[in-house]
Amino acid sequence: MTNKRVLTGITTSGTPHLGNYVGAIRPAVAASLDADVDAYLFLADYHALIKCQDPEQVAQSSLEIAATWLASGLNPERAHFYRQSDIPEVTELSWILTCNAAKGLMNRAHAYKAAVQANNEGGEDPDFGITMGLFSYPVLMAADILIFNAHDVPVGRDQIQHVEMARDIAQRFNHNFSEVFTLPQAVVGEHVAVLQGLDGRKMSKSYGNTIPLFGTPKQLQKSINKIKTNLLEPGEPKNPDDATVFQIWAAFASDSERERMRGDFLAGIGWGEAKKQLFELVNVELAEPRERYMELMASPARVEEVLQAGAERLRPQSKALLERVRDAVGLRRYA
Ligand code: TRP
Repeated sequence: MTNKRVLTGITTSGTPHLGNYVGAIRPAVAASLDADVDAYLFLADYHALIKCQDPEQVAQSSLEIAATWLASGLNPERAHFYRQSDIPEVTELSWILTCNAAKGLMNRAHAYKAAVQANNEGGEDPDFGITMGLFSYPVLMAADILIFNAHDVPVGRDQIQHVEMARDIAQRFNHNFSEVFTLPQAVVGEHVAVLQGLDGRKMSKSYGNTIPLFGTPKQLQKSINKIKTNLLEPGEPKNPDDATVFQIWAAFASDSERERMRGDFLAGIGWGEAKKQLFELVNVELAEPRERYMELMASPARVEEVLQAGAERLRPQSKALLERVRDAVGLRRYA
């Protein structure tokens, strides 16, 4: 039996924070160790171009994110780890799919619709600032998924629609030409933790409430000290279930340590003490990855080597798939 192909992309924008680690990186690294799965994890750097046109930032962010995944325990010998822009078949497939994707389908994509709505509300032309890249984003994403005929695509809720569009596009292609594509499905983790940020809302770059993943221990401590709490004094019982400090604690602690801290909250542990313990717990888990991260950031050539090996290992597969697609649509040699 062939293994299940599980594929997901990471847009290479921004600096990874604790919420990315708990919600995406840590579970994906764990899942990639499953023997029944062929994991495909890639840096979606073409997708990053949609949001960012600053070349230095595009390059820096890509390196940071590659180093973060490797430092967090991703084993590139087991999982396919590669950069989207190193697989030229992705963009070739993207064009062929573009010619088969209904424009009406793309009009319904959330990201595009949100941009148009923001323009309308701001009294701008509806197309203001909207590139063809943003509009066609779901087709590129479909190409990412279909080029390796992925079965499962683990994503956050905001991306389910895009995976369904990929499925639609694949189905239409199979129907019009020949059965080339596996129909992918979105998989949304039921138990994926959504970490709270400094202000108690979901930790997110757009809220400016994040804790950077691989800052120095001092920075980590400073961030944790900034987590919002209520004004209860030491000795006064505290409710663990509405406290961000406890929520982050629970994402890093063993079951027994979680329950111990729950008891300490009810017994009135002071905020200062709870934060001190939280810092120590998180810092212990991050210490080794942080060190590996620093090493990788200091030797980009090593990261590059891993990515080149990843692409090289996969290209026979992407080339073979693209050959079938080209043949199916009539792009053939004459003799
Ligand atoms: N668009 C996804 C995001 O922003 C990233 C992504 C790009 C992706 N291509 C993909 C995810 C293919 C899954 C499969 O999160």
